[in-house]
Amino acid sequence: MSMLPLVASTAASIILAGSVFAASKDELLMNQVKAVASTLCDWAGLSRPQENDAIGSRPGFGEERAVEIVQPGGTAQIRTLKIPEGATTTGYNVARRTKHLRGSKRDDLVEVGVSHFAINFADVCIRLGLYESAIRNVGYPIVPGFDIAGVVTKVPDNCDLKVGDRVFGATLFGGYSTKVSVPKNQLREVPQYVTSEQAAALPAVSLTALHALTIAGFPALSKCSIPLGKNKSVLVHSASGGVGGMLVQFAKLCGAENVVGVVGRKNKTEYAISLGCDAVVYKEGKSKGEWWKEVEEANGGVGYKAIFDANGVETLQASYEHLDLCGRLVVYGFHTNLDNGTSLSPLSWIRMIIGFLKMPRFDAMQMTLDSRAVLGFNLSFFENETELIGDYFNTITTWLSAKKFQLPKVNLYEMDEVAQTHELIQSGKSIGKIVVRTNKNEL
Ligand SMILES: NC(=O)c1ccc[n+]([C@@H]2O[C@H](COP(=O)([O-])OP(=O)(O)OC[C@H]3O[C@@H](n4cnc5c(N)ncnc54)[C@H](OP(=O)(O)O)[C@@H]3O)[C@@H](O)[C@H]2O)c1
Repeated sequence: MSMLPLVASTAASIILAGSVFAASKDELLMNQVKAVASTLCDWAGLSRPQENDAIGSRPGFGEERAVEIVQPGGTAQIRTLKIPEGATTTGYNVARRTKHLRGSKRDDLVEVGVSHFAINFADVCIRLGLYESAIRNVGYPIVPGFDIAGVVTKVPDNCDLKVGDRVFGATLFGGYSTKVSVPKNQLREVPQYVTSEQAAALPAVSLTALHALTIAGFPALSKCSIPLGKNKSVLVHSASGGVGGMLVQFAKLCGAENVVGVVGRKNKTEYAISLGCDAVVYKEGKSKGEWWKEVEEANGGVGYKAIFDANGVETLQASYEHLDLCGRLVVYGFHTNLDNGTSLSPLSWIRMIIGFLKMPRFDAMQMTLDSRAVLGFNLSFFENETELIGDYFNTITTWLSAKKFQLPKVNLYEMDEVAQTHELIQSGKSIGKIVVRTNKNEL
């Protein structure tokens, strides 16, 4: 395996370059080389901004549209396009390497008129050509998007849902759209008290949080239980972000006893506390040594049972060192490896390579001696884990109906403002979730 795919996938929160999916190794490498070249051309001003389809940028009633990333690069690579008559967007588990569905053979597809879709950090990685499951399974152009909410417009036979039901769900790309076809097991009804914008904010972040907690030994599913021992403390990095906010709340629901959050800026503290953190440590204006000392004090000087870390190179080693005996470090992203600029310059690539080289390598023998574990996952590759994801989704919907957790704070945008939403996510300043409304299909 060459260095390039590893560097790219590392920055994209994934290290799975060894496993084989739809694309052959040669295709994958070629796609990744193209992604690097394309981001550099974009940075150098050699690629033209993409133009919207002739329909204009702001969606009106009548036309079906999607937002696509034409090729890897800055936000100028984002454009609105018209979905052809009779087509919908869809995830790669339904139709690979095509952004529009034309007569799929699957018989479990529900057509959803999307009123809201969420923006995730992963979408920025896709735009920058750094998200491996997008490169493997779709390529460019790509309609990104994992989270949708809207109204059922067409159902297959034997489906519990009916036309007109208000639903929310997850799709493996294709969510930035007004019309999506989704396998029925990836959708659930929205409880009455929840708005569609709140529902759209939930699937990716809540499924990620629940899986992370489960593998860390805090399972919500009754069928798996791992003895936790006395220490039930949890440390959540980026506790006011999308996944972080869910981890804080779900940790409590799964039996954690001292949930400590870390946030970048002081102004995020209040939100993290409102989600249920027992203590919050902010990093702004402090040295690494200072804020890590506060993290230690927040758990009475004892190591944590589980630490959830999507920072990457900045904190991974120290997180490992702050685990208790039998502690688990769950790694699910690498956002500090990524540059804050909206397009990637040669310097950005050099920084990412340095970040990759500085990434801690965990030694199996040392982990055995320490009785600690490092675990990683990326849900965007879980296309065949439908039963597991279905179980998580059922748990989340049950908790949602019982009002067991607080809905994420939503920042609402229009469909022609996707570029701004990417910039906001990259700034690291956002609190809660970013959701886009399509101005269609609202009940
Ligand atoms: N493995 C999976 O299956 C999976 C699924 C979903 C998401 N993820 C990963 O989980 C992470 C969080 O996703 P999210 O949707 O919750 O994102 P989010 O809501 O945008 O939160 C990201 C937070 O990361 C922190 N951050 C640190 N360095 C950053 C940088 N260079 N650029 C932007 N933010 C930075 C910021 O918080 P602080 O400054 O407060 O730390 C920011 O609020 C991402 O790395 C994403 O790729 C993984």
